Amino acid sequence: MKVLVTGGAGFIGSNFIFYMLDKHPDYDVVCLDCLTYCGNMKTLDPAMANDHFKFVKGDVTDRELVFKLFEEEKFDVVVNFAAESHVDRSIEDPGVFLRTNILGTQVLMDASREYGVGRFHQVGTDEVYGDLPLDRPDLFFTEDMPLTASSPYSASKASADLLVMAYHRTYGLPVTISRCSNNYGPYQFPEKLIPLMIKNALADEPLPVYGTGENVRDWLYVEDHCKAIDMIIHDGKVGEVYNIGGHNEKSNLDVVKTILRQVGKPESLITFVGDRKGHDLRYAIDPAKIHAELGWLPDTKFDDGIRQTIQWYLDNRSWWEEIISGEYQEYYEKMYSNR
Ligand code: NAD
Ligand code: TYD
Repeated sequence: MKVLVTGGAGFIGSNFIFYMLDKHPDYDVVCLDCLTYCGNMKTLDPAMANDHFKFVKGDVTDRELVFKLFEEEKFDVVVNFAAESHVDRSIEDPGVFLRTNILGTQVLMDASREYGVGRFHQVGTDEVYGDLPLDRPDLFFTEDMPLTASSPYSASKASADLLVMAYHRTYGLPVTISRCSNNYGPYQFPEKLIPLMIKNALADEPLPVYGTGENVRDWLYVEDHCKAIDMIIHDGKVGEVYNIGGHNEKSNLDVVKTILRQVGKPESLITFVGDRKGHDLRYAIDPAKIHAELGWLPDTKFDDGIRQTIQWYLDNRSWWEEIISGEYQEYYEKMYSNR
């Protein structure tokens, strides 16, 4: 079996590559990634020595390159992680989100049709369901909910999902979609909540909590997401959407306090800053379908996962210190200095 993983030099894609090389040592895995600010070849170091792994630098919107790659490699399965993934950046500059997340998906699906790929799996997000109120803990995202989007990021992901379903219905492309809640774990770029707060706490710098910090996210350890995608590409039903989440809802303030406790730093580092525009209140997944149909359940509890994640950032300082020494400083200044 030959699997194309797009966006595999990023956070979840790289973890998925490690998972697949370990779980299916006879599979060939090719990563296509154009290495944007958050794609990192250092992350793929552990895979580069594996004969069953190959890295190709390229943009998913580059039709010529993508078609040539598909012609040469004859992929059985495509798993599309490649995306612009940060909500705050999408609020600053939506254009690239539309290009990569929508048009990139189109190019990959056109190539999948042309070269008879057996499964096109789209890695989606729960953010396409919009948000849930804070005072209705009985409500959860289910696969049949209408799509609605709060940010240019979630709108681009919702558009891609609609396009994927349209390619299935119109052309019979064998697709599946997964919609996962917030991930955390090793190799996450320190612009997202958990790694950003770990990094700041370790440096005794302020921890910038947006608004009141009451917004709720449903956290899933990244390896559990990888396991779910592996199950879907093997046993998921073509044309179906699967929500992925482990009933792990936490307010942002709770997450930040947990991090501070674990690294032994004072809560006085918490600094409330201006809220995100259009800030979604609560995400919460109902994972009943993937559990009932594929037997998926998460393995890692939040307390264990967050401990392992913090330990990983402590043990791999050079990985993130290199990142924050470059253009990241400019980004941080722009996003947080006058907030
Ligand atoms: P990430 O930002 O860490 O990585 C994205 C990767 O895609 C990077 O390696 C980047 O270089 C690559 N990329 C970007 N544009 C590209 C292009 N035009 N051509 C080729 N490669 C390109 O993202 P992530 O957090 O790992 O998210 C991966 C996927 O999972 C995304 O589709 C995202 O929407 C989805 N998702 C993420 C989460 C989360 O919590 N992080 C939750 C649910 C779904
Ligand atoms: P984030 O990691 O950007 O993921 P998403 O927006 O996709 O859920 O943010 C998670 C939550 O943390 C979200 O409610 C916004 C909040 N947040 C902060 O309060 N401060 C920050 O510096 C960041 C990056 C996020």
